[in-house]
Amino acid sequence: MTADERMALMTEAFAARYGHPPTLWTRAPGRVDLMGSHTDYNHGFILTMTIDRDTWFAARPRADRTVRVASLDMGGESTFSLDAVNTDHDQRWANYVRGMASVMQEAGYTLAGVDALIHTTVPVSAGLSSSAALEMAAGRMFEAVAGLAIDPVQLAVFGQRAENNFVGVNCGILDQYTSAVGQAGSALLLDARTITSQNVPLTPDIRVVICDTRTKRELAGSEYGRRRAQCEEGARALAAFYPGITHLRDVNLAQFEARAGELEPEVARRCRFIVEENARVAAFATALSAGDRSAMSDLCAASFAGARDLYAITSCEMQVMLAAMLAAPGCIAARQAGAGFGGCMAAFVEAGSETAFAAQVAPAYQAATGIEPHIYPVVASAGAGRVE
Ligand code: GLA
Repeated sequence: MTADERMALMTEAFAARYGHPPTLWTRAPGRVDLMGSHTDYNHGFILTMTIDRDTWFAARPRADRTVRVASLDMGGESTFSLDAVNTDHDQRWANYVRGMASVMQEAGYTLAGVDALIHTTVPVSAGLSSSAALEMAAGRMFEAVAGLAIDPVQLAVFGQRAENNFVGVNCGILDQYTSAVGQAGSALLLDARTITSQNVPLTPDIRVVICDTRTKRELAGSEYGRRRAQCEEGARALAAFYPGITHLRDVNLAQFEARAGELEPEVARRCRFIVEENARVAAFATALSAGDRSAMSDLCAASFAGARDLYAITSCEMQVMLAAMLAAPGCIAARQAGAGFGGCMAAFVEAGSETAFAAQVAPAYQAATGIEPHIYPVVASAGAGRVE
């Protein structure tokens, strides 16, 4: 669908629902992480990029303090007053929008009522941050309707707060930051402690290809929380030997190894993964910029092995997919993405080989699992903002 077709589709649905056409538009992209799994809540580093799949809001300000929001993809509608923003137990997707309104008001902004319609091309529950895209596009809409000007980093922090405190997901800053700050044509080297990033230009001769296993492990949410708690436990234990450390980001591999034996074995495995993964991020950014294919391949292989053996966030389907990716034409490197536990993975593929790559990976994965995967290249698109 072209942008014009999408706008026409949304305009028609908006007018049918609300009786008049929309007057303003916002959008925010999903993301894929290129290196740095679960490092964000450990105050570490991530190489991350936006993708060219995004969530759009068509909107029209209202004269009162009511927010009506409908989703073309989910089919439902949710209505609330800005004077009492509560949880919607039926239209759960709406809580990302409600959460943004709640958090922005708590921060002191005066918002205004709006009729809104959402349409997204970010796959939901696939590990590509459809919720962050929804939050960031909603935030930009509330900003526009109320005539505000909010810094992208601040918007990302609001999104994380909405997710942590309103929706109840204890995520880090990665998803919202990428969606808010990302730039076309660049990856971001994010420091999750200082919440700052450097652009890492992407080379046109290497393509990022999403390989969606189209599976999701049931316990993904609770397992995520357990990993996080284990990291915190490890950091607390290590602080007894290294005063001043607050997060695993503060520990280097030599320091970790000197004290790993003092940790409970499973906690030690989780912590080792984070310490090693964190060190891989800068190395991978350098390798990608230099087009150093052999270093990229080694770093991704180590990242996946750690995700499998130490952090335990891979699945059978992910292992089948990895093997299919690595065997396919043009594949330089491949690894997990997002939180793991199923969902999408990322391959780095020689430009020009994307079609041959997908043509080999899809049947190989399907033959082994019985599941038809989704395989498609992505490019970094602009971060959240107005659609002009
Ligand atoms: C999810 C979370 C992020 C991050 C990743 C893993 O996407 O929302 O904050 O922790 O998992 O890197």
